[in-house]
Amino acid sequence: HGTSQINEQGHLEIGGVNTVELANQFGTPLFVYDIALIRERAEQFQQAFKKENVPYQVAYASKAFSCVAMFQLAEELGLSLDVVSGGELYTALKAGFPMERVHFHGNNKSMAELQMAVDAKIGCVVVDNFYELQELSRICKENKFTMNILLRITPGVEAHTHDYISTGQEDSKFGFDLVSGQVHDAVKLAKEDEWVNLLGIHSHIGSQIFETTGFVMAVEKMFELIVEWKDRFNFIPSVLNLGGGFGIRYIEGDTPLPAGEYVTKMIEVVKKKALESGLTMPEIWIEPGRSLVGDAGTTLYSIGSKKHIPNVRDYLAVDGGMSDNLRPALYQAEYEGVLANRANEEATETFSIAGKCCESGDMLIWDLPLPKANHEDILAVFCTGAYGYAMANNYNRIPRPAVVFVEDGEAYEVIKRERYEDLIRLDLPMVKKITK
Ligand code: LLP
Repeated sequence: HGTSQINEQGHLEIGGVNTVELANQFGTPLFVYDIALIRERAEQFQQAFKKENVPYQVAYASKAFSCVAMFQLAEELGLSLDVVSGGELYTALKAGFPMERVHFHGNNKSMAELQMAVDAKIGCVVVDNFYELQELSRICKENKFTMNILLRITPGVEAHTHDYISTGQEDSKFGFDLVSGQVHDAVKLAKEDEWVNLLGIHSHIGSQIFETTGFVMAVEKMFELIVEWKDRFNFIPSVLNLGGGFGIRYIEGDTPLPAGEYVTKMIEVVKKKALESGLTMPEIWIEPGRSLVGDAGTTLYSIGSKKHIPNVRDYLAVDGGMSDNLRPALYQAEYEGVLANRANEEATETFSIAGKCCESGDMLIWDLPLPKANHEDILAVFCTGAYGYAMANNYNRIPRPAVVFVEDGEAYEVIKRERYEDLIRLDLPMVKKITK
């Protein structure tokens, strides 16, 4: 997929770059991002809006993968940015990302984070709860700055990958509850508050969603509210933010829609509902994370030890694992992979790919068909671009991998590999007890 192909040496090539050479040059494990694919995805989302002539913002949900270079790419692609912490906001500032296109999420933003958002004059805070509304208003007043806000609502539509369930009684840590009527109080408070400018509402129904049904239900719920608010509070949202969650294909059996189709469907129901309710068409904002960067990422590992258990299983161990990809251990997420240095060879065996962490749950892939693999072969695991590096950690004091961007036959490093010195950078020596 993307720009991946097999060259005449039988090596996997991404973005016109030989991955075996990348592994030699930068070491393994290594995250390789196919930048052309990120551009293509951003374009698909944006075109779907342009085609319908609907005002929009496509905000990259940066939790999926954030670093200075990624934020600079997002800026170049005309994306807005969804940040969820002071750390992500700091990275955006350092990347020179235009602050008016930054949206700040989170269910427990600290006072320092809200202050940072006000100081940076970001585009919008997605307010999650009453405490935040009150404190944001206080900080804005102190700084004589009016902040644009959206209110996050829990629409009572919960998406579970292929499936969705409509929960009458919403139980989520995020957003203003609909059933108890909290959301109405929030609108009233925000409308009366001169230090916040209520632009509209936000809902996010879940992640790795393959269907449009959940989004349609969320829009319908939102319009029920909007019609009520028009009469009760004279409030008509100018922005509807429908969140992210658009699925990608990790394995053969995954069946996401093309990126633009989610948008086209959303526009269709928002248009229909706006017309029915006699309201002007709001701006539509979305927040894709995984679908922008997920399948653009590939992780290269070196294969080390093998274990053959007769009549049971063959294990192949790689030089990373749950330290650079937590998703299999955390969500039983499934991946596919190939030998990057022998990508032209037929799969004749089945191997289970183990990580190197001291934990039985550190398995990356079960029963992967591969050619007869040996020590020092390079394993490429696909679709690791979202929530891979982002959730990487130093368990077992394993340094985090390097990250490279590849495009048009060129590769450049965007995150350096951690060194052992980095691991102890914040460690302090033990203080000796003074004994008399
Ligand atoms: N907007 C909001 C408010 C979100 O909470 C999220 C994801 C997104 C947008 C982006 O969702 P996406 O388009 O990436 O699906 N670590 C998990 C995923 C957690 C998603 C959390 N929120 C994983 O690895 O599958």
